[in-house]
Amino acid sequence: MSTSSRRICLLYIFLSNLVMTLGMQCSGIRPSFRFDCYPETGSNQQNCNKRGCCWLPSPRNDRVLEGVPSCFYPRDFPSYQMDSLKQTDFGYSLNLTRTTKSYYEKDVMQLQMDVYYETAQRLHFKIYDPKVKRYEVPITTPKVAKRAPLTEYNVQFSKSPLGILVTRAKDSTVLFNSSVSTLIFSDQFLQISTSLSTQFIYGLGEHRGRFRLSSDWKTYSMWARDQPPKVGANLYGSHPFYLNLEGSSGRSHGVFLLNSNAMEVAIQPAPALTYRSIGGILDFYIFLGPGPDEVIQQYTEVIGHPFMPPYWGLGFHLCRWGYGSANKTLAVVKKMKAAGIPQDTQWSDIEYAVGRKDFTFNNNTYAELPDLIRYCHANSMHFIPIVDPAISSTQAPGTYSPYDAGIVGDVFVKNSSGNPLVGKVWPGETVFPDFFNEKTKSWWFDQIKDFHAQIHFDGIWIDMNEPSSFVDGSVDGCADTLFDNPPYTPSILDGKLSAKTICASATHCIGRHYDLHNLYGYSEAVATNSALVKVREKRSFVISRSTYPGSGKYAGHWLGDNYSLWPDMAYSIAGIMSFSLFGIPLVGADICGFNLNTSEELCQRWMQLGAFYPFSRNHNTLGSKDQDPTAFSDDMQSSTRKALNLRYALLPYIYTLFHFAHVKGSTVARPLFFE
Ligand code: NOJ
Repeated sequence: MSTSSRRICLLYIFLSNLVMTLGMQCSGIRPSFRFDCYPETGSNQQNCNKRGCCWLPSPRNDRVLEGVPSCFYPRDFPSYQMDSLKQTDFGYSLNLTRTTKSYYEKDVMQLQMDVYYETAQRLHFKIYDPKVKRYEVPITTPKVAKRAPLTEYNVQFSKSPLGILVTRAKDSTVLFNSSVSTLIFSDQFLQISTSLSTQFIYGLGEHRGRFRLSSDWKTYSMWARDQPPKVGANLYGSHPFYLNLEGSSGRSHGVFLLNSNAMEVAIQPAPALTYRSIGGILDFYIFLGPGPDEVIQQYTEVIGHPFMPPYWGLGFHLCRWGYGSANKTLAVVKKMKAAGIPQDTQWSDIEYAVGRKDFTFNNNTYAELPDLIRYCHANSMHFIPIVDPAISSTQAPGTYSPYDAGIVGDVFVKNSSGNPLVGKVWPGETVFPDFFNEKTKSWWFDQIKDFHAQIHFDGIWIDMNEPSSFVDGSVDGCADTLFDNPPYTPSILDGKLSAKTICASATHCIGRHYDLHNLYGYSEAVATNSALVKVREKRSFVISRSTYPGSGKYAGHWLGDNYSLWPDMAYSIAGIMSFSLFGIPLVGADICGFNLNTSEELCQRWMQLGAFYPFSRNHNTLGSKDQDPTAFSDDMQSSTRKALNLRYALLPYIYTLFHFAHVKGSTVARPLFFE
């Protein structure tokens, strides 16, 4: 084709596109207000137009328009309309109807929206299928039967297309406005957008990054994943909650979407954001604050106030994978004591167990484990072992009772053929307890009780509970179902739900792993906390890797497998503050870094910073150089001693902050703007 005919052809394509786009009410939509109609890869004009969306690609290399979607919804994209609105005891109930199908299979053509004016500062609204019961997150939330008499918010609805507008009564600040884009509610694709009051938005975890989220066309996905923290990736926990500052008024509000399916939240500079979840219902809470700490108090009133840790749990903790033996561990504890460096708790990683199997300890290298624990207790210290959820399934019958008893009790997650699903974790092939099952909880209690009779641990570290598996799905793969391969997969690492975990089609006694995956760590924390309390008859101390809203009631959290690098130390501050927003104030990062070898200078600075983490633990990986404070020079030890002594001097205050967190849901480590 000659250059001139190519130009004519391009002009033709451009003009026909423009005509189509104008015809569909595409014009005049500012780039920052374009809501992405084709977030999947493969967005092109043909695919875009098939969805009935506008196609206007930005010129290449235009940095200003970088990230702006080329395929976006026209203003008149078919959505739901409000058919009826009636007043109820708690607020309103609306019937919504869609007459044109969306481009996803199985639209729910008729929806119901219930709006609950729960308290003066808390609005709750829920969009669901009134005819067919869908999955809802099984965590207990407050039930309110009567509408709050006075509220700090106003709610309005637009009829066609349906929109809900929530404003702050005092100054009309828009807190939620769904009419900025289209609502889609199909069986496996639910999408709703809202404007934001400013670009000052925080939360939406678990992610590695700056504390303030980027509204520059960034997508935050949530699907619990065993993944060393990296920017842009879905990590161990899922927290669909954000805090939004409202600007010069100094007020703030929070928004919580109670949905546990794989999801993503795309933020754009309008500012606005779009939720895309692949299941459940749209169950929103809006908290009016107005102070940021009040927002968190109102949020934790719904998901549960954080547990009250024992005083010793706020002391300094020391851990590593690779001490080599109980005696070598004890030698470090003694060195810490001789150096006068405060230490309250010694931990043991999976090396203490025989063949890395839960509820065992190695009679060779760890034969002296009881002595180590006795030493700790005699010196007013405490001891915490790691316990992974996955149970070895390949031991000879009669030789490994946790598995044998689990099979008898039928406590494991099932694959799509109804047999215990087999994955692979540290001990080799393993099965996964279904902690949603009451039978599992009592079996788990039995294991913890029996193990406690052998070694008198004081707390439990629950790791690998995304749940992590070293084979994708299971040793037999996954069935080819719509759960394993849904029509839409949020932008998660490796692009598939089974990556590094069990199949989404696996079943728990209360439902599908597809729905419950993000709650696995939560359910293990509930079972572990209650077992520990029963066994020790004292306050519990559980630290969990995977978390969900409400986990803070049962456990604390550490930020996972970070690296011994300066940026990792810096990022820990944002990570800790984010978990304060998530109602998990007992949080810290592995001090001095987990992966790689640390340096003395980094470790010294990190010990100084980590002395002020709410959960202060130095932890290191297998094969890395020792990094407990006694492994370094006298100077390093003396600055560590000084920093930790300062922590210990402040402990009564820190403990009091935890008390306030426990009784009213406030934060412990918090950004200055909270003040
Ligand atoms: C992964 C955990 O994140 C890490 O802290 C632990 O040391 C290893 N598993 C071994 O248990």
